[in-house]
Amino acid sequence: MGQGFWEQLHLALVLLLLNLGSTVAEDAPYSCYGIPGLPGMPGMPGKDGRDGLKGAKGEPGFPATGGPKGMKGEPGSPGMPGEPGPMGMHGPDGFPGPTGAPGVPGMPGSYKQKLLSAFSVRRQSKKHPLKNIPVVFNQIITNTNYDYNITSGRFTCRLPGLYYFVFHTSQTDTLCAILHKDGRKAASFCDHQTNALQVSSGGALLRLGTGSQVWLTVNDYNGMVGTDRSNSIFSGFLLFPD
Ligand SMILES: *[C@@H]1O[C@H](CO)[C@@H](O)[C@H](O)[C@H]1NC(C)=O
Repeated sequence: MGQGFWEQLHLALVLLLLNLGSTVAEDAPYSCYGIPGLPGMPGMPGKDGRDGLKGAKGEPGFPATGGPKGMKGEPGSPGMPGEPGPMGMHGPDGFPGPTGAPGVPGMPGSYKQKLLSAFSVRRQSKKHPLKNIPVVFNQIITNTNYDYNITSGRFTCRLPGLYYFVFHTSQTDTLCAILHKDGRKAASFCDHQTNALQVSSGGALLRLGTGSQVWLTVNDYNGMVGTDRSNSIFSGFLLFPD
Protein backbone atom coordinates (compact mmCIF):
# COMPACT_ATOMS: atom_id res chain seq x y z
CA MET A 1 0.00 0.00 0.00
CA GLY A 2 1.49 3.33 -0.99
CA GLN A 3 1.83 6.46 1.06
CA GLY A 4 -0.95 8.17 -0.94
CA PHE A 5 -3.50 5.63 0.25
CA TRP A 6 -2.77 6.34 3.89
CA GLU A 7 -2.92 10.01 3.36
CA GLN A 8 -6.34 9.70 1.70
CA LEU A 9 -7.63 7.48 4.50
CA HIS A 10 -6.38 9.93 7.06
CA LEU A 11 -8.14 12.82 5.35
CA ALA A 12 -11.38 10.79 5.14
CA LEU A 13 -11.34 10.11 8.90
CA VAL A 14 -10.78 13.75 9.68
CA LEU A 15 -13.72 14.77 7.57
CA LEU A 16 -15.92 12.10 9.24
CA LEU A 17 -15.05 13.37 12.69
CA LEU A 18 -15.78 16.92 11.66
CA ASN A 19 -19.17 15.82 10.34
CA LEU A 20 -19.97 13.88 13.54
CA GLY A 21 -19.04 16.89 15.57
CA SER A 22 -21.41 19.12 13.70
CA THR A 23 -24.23 16.58 14.03
CA VAL A 24 -23.73 16.38 17.70
CA ALA A 25 -23.69 20.11 17.84
CA GLU A 26 -27.05 20.41 16.10
CA ASP A 27 -28.77 17.82 18.25
CA ALA A 28 -27.52 19.19 21.54
CA PRO A 29 -28.59 22.48 23.01
CA TYR A 30 -25.89 25.13 23.19
CA SER A 31 -26.56 25.80 26.77
CA CYS A 32 -25.49 22.41 28.15
CA TYR A 33 -22.34 22.01 26.35
CA GLY A 34 -19.41 24.19 25.55
CA ILE A 35 -18.17 24.90 22.16
CA PRO A 36 -16.90 21.73 20.58
CA GLY A 37 -13.14 21.46 20.58
CA LEU A 38 -10.99 21.43 17.61
CA PRO A 39 -10.49 18.10 15.86
CA GLY A 40 -7.64 16.09 17.22
CA MET A 41 -4.48 15.54 15.40
CA PRO A 42 -4.49 12.64 12.89
CA GLY A 43 -3.45 9.36 14.44
CA MET A 44 -0.48 7.34 13.41
CA PRO A 45 -0.93 5.05 10.34
CA GLY A 46 -2.25 1.59 11.17
CA LYS A 47 -0.45 -1.62 10.55
CA ASP A 48 -0.44 -3.26 7.12
CA GLY A 49 -3.58 -5.21 6.27
CA ARG A 50 -3.61 -8.87 5.42
CA ASP A 51 -2.56 -9.99 1.98
CA GLY A 52 -5.34 -9.68 -0.61
CA LEU A 53 -6.79 -12.62 -2.53
CA LYS A 54 -4.86 -14.05 -5.40
CA GLY A 55 -5.50 -12.05 -8.63
CA ALA A 56 -7.24 -13.43 -11.74
CA LYS A 57 -5.22 -15.26 -14.32
CA GLY A 58 -3.58 -12.87 -16.84
CA GLU A 59 -4.00 -12.78 -20.58
CA PRO A 60 -1.86 -15.25 -22.58
CA GLY A 61 1.51 -13.81 -23.47
CA PHE A 62 2.82 -13.30 -26.97
CA PRO A 63 4.26 -16.39 -28.69
CA ALA A 64 7.93 -16.77 -28.08
CA THR A 65 10.17 -15.88 -30.95
CA GLY A 66 12.58 -18.51 -32.40
CA GLY A 67 15.68 -19.16 -30.44
CA PRO A 68 19.20 -19.05 -31.86
CA LYS A 69 20.00 -21.34 -34.80
CA GLY A 70 21.18 -24.78 -33.68
CA MET A 71 24.32 -26.64 -34.81
CA LYS A 72 24.37 -28.45 -38.16
CA GLY A 73 23.11 -32.06 -37.78
CA GLU A 74 24.76 -35.27 -38.99
CA PRO A 75 24.03 -36.25 -42.69
CA GLY A 76 21.17 -38.73 -43.04
CA SER A 77 21.62 -42.27 -44.44
CA PRO A 78 21.53 -42.57 -48.32
CA GLY A 79 18.10 -43.08 -49.87
CA MET A 80 17.05 -46.04 -52.06
CA PRO A 81 18.33 -46.01 -55.72
CA GLY A 82 15.94 -44.23 -58.09
CA GLU A 83 14.34 -45.64 -61.26
CA PRO A 84 16.68 -45.89 -64.32
CA GLY A 85 16.57 -42.73 -66.41
CA PRO A 86 15.77 -42.65 -70.18
CA MET A 87 18.41 -44.00 -72.58
CA GLY A 88 20.95 -41.39 -73.65
CA MET A 89 22.03 -40.48 -77.18
CA HIS A 90 24.42 -42.77 -79.05
CA GLY A 91 27.92 -41.56 -78.31
CA PRO A 92 30.54 -40.86 -80.99
CA ASP A 93 32.58 -43.76 -82.35
CA GLY A 94 35.66 -44.61 -80.36
CA PHE A 95 39.20 -44.67 -81.65
CA PRO A 96 40.21 -47.71 -83.72
CA GLY A 97 41.68 -50.48 -81.67
CA PRO A 98 45.30 -51.58 -81.96
CA THR A 99 46.35 -53.72 -84.86
CA GLY A 100 45.86 -57.40 -84.18
CA ALA A 101 48.61 -59.98 -84.15
CA PRO A 102 49.60 -61.46 -87.52
CA GLY A 103 47.73 -64.60 -88.46
CA VAL A 104 49.27 -67.98 -88.89
CA PRO A 105 51.03 -68.55 -92.24
CA GLY A 106 48.79 -70.00 -94.90
CA MET A 107 49.31 -73.21 -96.82
CA PRO A 108 52.13 -73.17 -99.36
CA GLY A 109 50.82 -71.91 -102.66
CA SER A 110 51.15 -73.81 -105.89
CA TYR A 111 53.09 -71.72 -108.35
CA LYS A 112 52.16 -74.05 -111.17
CA GLN A 113 48.46 -74.02 -110.41
CA LYS A 114 48.27 -70.29 -109.88
CA LEU A 115 49.83 -69.27 -113.14
CA LEU A 116 47.92 -71.65 -115.35
CA SER A 117 46.14 -70.65 -118.54
CA ALA A 118 45.54 -73.09 -121.39
CA PHE A 119 42.70 -73.83 -123.77
CA SER A 120 41.88 -76.02 -126.75
CA VAL A 121 38.51 -75.42 -128.37
CA ARG A 122 36.84 -76.96 -131.36
CA ARG A 123 34.61 -75.46 -134.05
CA GLN A 124 32.00 -78.05 -134.93
CA SER A 125 30.20 -76.86 -138.08
CA LYS A 126 30.07 -77.77 -141.78
CA LYS A 127 29.24 -74.13 -142.52
CA HIS A 128 32.07 -71.80 -143.37
CA PRO A 129 32.53 -69.01 -140.77
CA LEU A 130 31.57 -65.37 -141.41
CA LYS A 131 34.46 -63.16 -142.45
CA ASN A 132 36.12 -60.41 -140.41
CA ILE A 133 34.50 -61.33 -137.09
CA PRO A 134 35.89 -63.71 -134.47
CA VAL A 135 35.49 -67.35 -135.49
CA VAL A 136 33.62 -68.97 -132.61
CA PHE A 137 35.06 -72.30 -131.51
CA ASN A 138 32.03 -73.54 -129.65
CA GLN A 139 33.16 -76.79 -128.03
CA ILE A 140 35.56 -76.99 -125.13
CA ILE A 141 38.33 -79.57 -125.05
CA THR A 142 40.37 -77.75 -122.42
CA ASN A 143 39.64 -74.31 -120.99
CA THR A 144 41.22 -73.33 -117.66
CA ASN A 145 39.27 -70.63 -115.90
CA TYR A 146 37.20 -70.14 -119.04
CA ASP A 147 39.83 -67.76 -120.41
CA TYR A 148 38.47 -68.58 -123.87
CA ASN A 149 34.86 -67.48 -124.30
CA ILE A 150 32.95 -70.00 -126.46
CA THR A 151 30.18 -67.44 -127.02
CA SER A 152 32.26 -64.48 -128.20
CA GLY A 153 35.16 -66.51 -129.65
CA ARG A 154 37.72 -64.37 -127.82
CA PHE A 155 40.51 -65.36 -125.46
CA THR A 156 41.00 -62.88 -122.61
CA CYS A 157 44.36 -62.74 -120.83
CA ARG A 158 44.04 -63.03 -117.04
CA LEU A 159 47.70 -63.71 -116.28
CA PRO A 160 50.20 -61.46 -118.09
CA GLY A 161 53.02 -63.21 -119.86
CA LEU A 162 54.18 -64.87 -123.06
CA TYR A 163 51.46 -66.99 -124.69
CA TYR A 164 51.58 -69.41 -127.57
CA PHE A 165 48.57 -69.64 -129.87
CA VAL A 166 48.15 -72.25 -132.57
CA PHE A 167 45.35 -73.50 -134.82
CA HIS A 168 44.84 -76.68 -136.79
CA THR A 169 41.96 -76.34 -139.20
CA SER A 170 40.25 -78.64 -141.62
CA GLN A 171 39.14 -76.98 -144.84
CA THR A 172 37.01 -77.75 -147.88
CA ASP A 173 37.92 -74.53 -149.68
CA THR A 174 40.72 -72.00 -149.74
CA LEU A 175 41.24 -70.59 -146.25
CA CYS A 176 42.98 -67.55 -144.78
CA ALA A 177 43.15 -67.64 -140.97
CA ILE A 178 44.24 -64.45 -139.26
CA LEU A 179 45.37 -64.24 -135.62
CA HIS A 180 44.29 -61.00 -133.92
CA LYS A 181 45.63 -59.42 -130.77
CA ASP A 182 43.40 -56.63 -129.41
CA GLY A 183 41.91 -56.01 -132.86
CA ARG A 184 45.21 -55.85 -134.69
CA LYS A 185 46.47 -58.53 -137.07
CA ALA A 186 49.27 -60.48 -135.39
CA ALA A 187 49.75 -63.29 -137.95
CA SER A 188 48.04 -64.48 -141.14
CA PHE A 189 48.06 -67.89 -142.83
CA CYS A 190 46.48 -68.71 -146.19
CA ASP A 191 46.21 -72.14 -147.72
CA HIS A 192 44.85 -72.64 -151.22
CA GLN A 193 42.66 -75.60 -151.70
CA THR A 194 44.41 -78.38 -153.63
CA ASN A 195 42.63 -81.44 -152.19
CA ALA A 196 39.03 -82.19 -151.29
CA LEU A 197 39.85 -82.04 -147.61
CA GLN A 198 43.07 -80.70 -146.17
CA VAL A 199 44.48 -79.34 -142.93
CA SER A 200 46.38 -76.11 -142.42
CA SER A 201 47.95 -74.63 -139.33
CA GLY A 202 49.72 -71.63 -137.96
CA GLY A 203 50.83 -70.23 -134.63
CA ALA A 204 52.69 -67.45 -132.87
CA LEU A 205 54.05 -66.42 -129.49
CA LEU A 206 52.37 -63.26 -128.22
CA ARG A 207 53.18 -61.21 -125.15
CA LEU A 208 49.94 -60.28 -123.47
CA GLY A 209 49.00 -57.98 -120.64
CA THR A 210 46.02 -58.50 -118.36
CA GLY A 211 42.82 -57.95 -120.32
CA SER A 212 44.38 -58.36 -123.76
CA GLN A 213 42.22 -60.36 -126.15
CA VAL A 214 43.18 -62.79 -128.91
CA TRP A 215 40.95 -64.36 -131.57
CA LEU A 216 40.95 -65.84 -135.05
CA THR A 217 39.18 -64.48 -138.12
CA VAL A 218 38.84 -65.46 -141.74
CA ASN A 219 38.53 -63.21 -144.75
CA ASP A 220 36.93 -63.89 -148.10
CA TYR A 221 38.75 -67.22 -148.04
CA ASN A 222 36.80 -68.92 -145.34
CA GLY A 223 36.70 -72.66 -146.26
CA MET A 224 37.01 -73.81 -142.62
CA VAL A 225 34.87 -76.75 -141.50
CA GLY A 226 34.67 -78.95 -138.47
CA THR A 227 33.28 -82.48 -138.41
CA ASP A 228 33.75 -85.53 -136.24
CA ARG A 229 36.33 -86.80 -138.71
CA SER A 230 38.02 -83.49 -139.45
CA ASN A 231 38.36 -81.05 -136.56
CA SER A 232 39.22 -77.40 -136.53
CA ILE A 233 40.90 -76.61 -133.25
CA PHE A 234 42.22 -73.36 -131.76
CA SER A 235 44.62 -73.62 -128.82
CA GLY A 236 46.59 -71.28 -126.62
CA PHE A 237 48.52 -71.42 -123.38
CA LEU A 238 50.67 -69.38 -121.08
CA LEU A 239 54.27 -70.30 -121.72
CA PHE A 240 56.10 -67.83 -119.47
CA PRO A 241 54.28 -65.63 -116.98
CA ASP A 242 55.61 -62.10 -116.47
C1 LIG B 1 31.40 -64.31 -123.09
O1 LIG B 1 31.00 -63.47 -124.14
C2 LIG B 1 29.62 -63.18 -124.14
C3 LIG B 1 29.29 -62.43 -125.41
O2 LIG B 1 30.20 -61.36 -125.62
C4 LIG B 1 29.34 -62.36 -122.90
O3 LIG B 1 27.96 -62.07 -122.83
C5 LIG B 1 29.75 -63.16 -121.69
O4 LIG B 1 29.60 -62.36 -120.56
C6 LIG B 1 31.19 -63.59 -121.80
N1 LIG B 1 31.49 -64.49 -120.71
C7 LIG B 1 32.47 -64.24 -119.87
C8 LIG B 1 32.67 -65.24 -118.78
O5 LIG B 1 33.17 -63.23 -119.95
